Amino acid sequence: MASDKQLTGTLALAVFTAALGSLQYGYSLGVINAPQKVIEKHYGRSLGVWPDTGVLLSENGTMLEPGQHPEVIMYWSLSVAIFSIGGMISSFLVGFVGDLRGRVKGMLMVNVLAVAAGLLMGLCKMWKPHIMVISGRAVMGFYCGLTSGLVPMYIGEIAPKAYRGALGTLHQLAVVVGILLSQVIGLDFLLGNDSMWPLLLGLSGAPAVLQSLLLPLCPESPRYLYICRGKEQEARKSLRRLKGDYDQTADMEEMWREKEEGEKEDKLSILSLIRSSVYRPQLFVALMMHLSQQFSGINAIFYYSTAIFHGAGVGQPVYATIGVGVINTIFTMVSVALVDRAGRRTLTLVGLGGMCLCAVAMTVGLKFQNNYSWMSYVSMSAIFLFVSFFEIGPGPIPWFIVAELFSQGPRPAAIALAGLCNWTSNFIIGMTFRYIEDFLGSYVFILFAGLLFVFTVFTYLKVPETKGKSFEEIAAVFQKGRKKVPANTGAEMELERLKSASDA
Ligand code: GLC
Repeated sequence: MASDKQLTGTLALAVFTAALGSLQYGYSLGVINAPQKVIEKHYGRSLGVWPDTGVLLSENGTMLEPGQHPEVIMYWSLSVAIFSIGGMISSFLVGFVGDLRGRVKGMLMVNVLAVAAGLLMGLCKMWKPHIMVISGRAVMGFYCGLTSGLVPMYIGEIAPKAYRGALGTLHQLAVVVGILLSQVIGLDFLLGNDSMWPLLLGLSGAPAVLQSLLLPLCPESPRYLYICRGKEQEARKSLRRLKGDYDQTADMEEMWREKEEGEKEDKLSILSLIRSSVYRPQLFVALMMHLSQQFSGINAIFYYSTAIFHGAGVGQPVYATIGVGVINTIFTMVSVALVDRAGRRTLTLVGLGGMCLCAVAMTVGLKFQNNYSWMSYVSMSAIFLFVSFFEIGPGPIPWFIVAELFSQGPRPAAIALAGLCNWTSNFIIGMTFRYIEDFLGSYVFILFAGLLFVFTVFTYLKVPETKGKSFEEIAAVFQKGRKKVPANTGAEMELERLKSASDA
């Protein structure tokens, strides 16, 4: 008989398949950085503001770059930003899509968007590239807003308790592999050049094709089947496929309790979750964890690392950026290995605290790099360490902890709200960092150090450990004063029936 600790082939396939959605999200996050100059040139031409000779002189006779033309700047910024806007809008719909026909069919349906977006970008030279790319990025953002909620929700629901952290972290691992992949194939001698860049962007739709082929082989989430749809036999079948032949009593009982609890209240919409005082403590923790992920400044490093390395005097900044991608991936793997042993709370604390110190070191490095040449090594090492600390905890954990903090009823709405919070703060950093940097100069990372300090203290005071706990036990941490499901005769009989059905 298999135990709860066994990982079956079907479970591995299901997690791998779901994580292809996360790979696509990472790829789309990273792909737009490397080929910026090449794409700007095409925008300039298709907008008719750039001559085919490729040379334009300013009023005082200096040679201009396409990226200096106001219209090109506008369309370029829109191509970058519209991705987050798409994500912000669609993250609202995660609960709706996940509950409509189930998690698996939900992921399958939204793949249409990814393929359409890939085609729009891949074929952009057939019409006006700037319009095609902007439309493609908007649709892709919309897709990613959905996938960044659906994937952790599905994985969180099918993972055995003992591996919920490690399997949940695989979402982030796929994100960072996607970022790295896009950085590498975006090099100019691969696809980041004049003729191949549409393919580079278009490839972001490719994992959706593979995922669509594999999803029909993946079992639906047993929690969805039993708790949302009341289909006990199908849920049992799904459990067997995911975990092998084992005694299902404990799992069925836990799901039953959650179902009973959920039936006492109306299904929670996003609005009623915000209003509900019962779930307020969990919601506060979930949103703060997503805020700390984004306002840690991680994407300031990702979006602007090439410029930051250039400023720190690195000769080949593109390769240093790829170096960041590699470190990023390695430390996410470290987190996969540690998260179910060390726990979410400890890793988040260590990560945020470490990032805070690195932000201080980066400031010192940037401030004194003109006085002492070795200071540029200080800022470089600080950047690498900053990213490593991020991936140990604050990167992966917020994505899956929301599914752990909430029971089935409020879970989809909570994931939607957390996603919205993540995408909005990501957008804010992306849009404002350049201006904050202009304003604060070399002190820019002090701002993040301050925020990181606050988030570290918050985590210490408010974030509970969820490692190895059942969803019911986690809920109990937040709702100490709440009544348990009354053990009436009907309930006892139903529990007995579930148990004997498991024994059969
Ligand atoms: C997380 C963040 C994302 C960031 C990435 C970097 O997934 O949500 O914004 O770019 O980590 O690894």
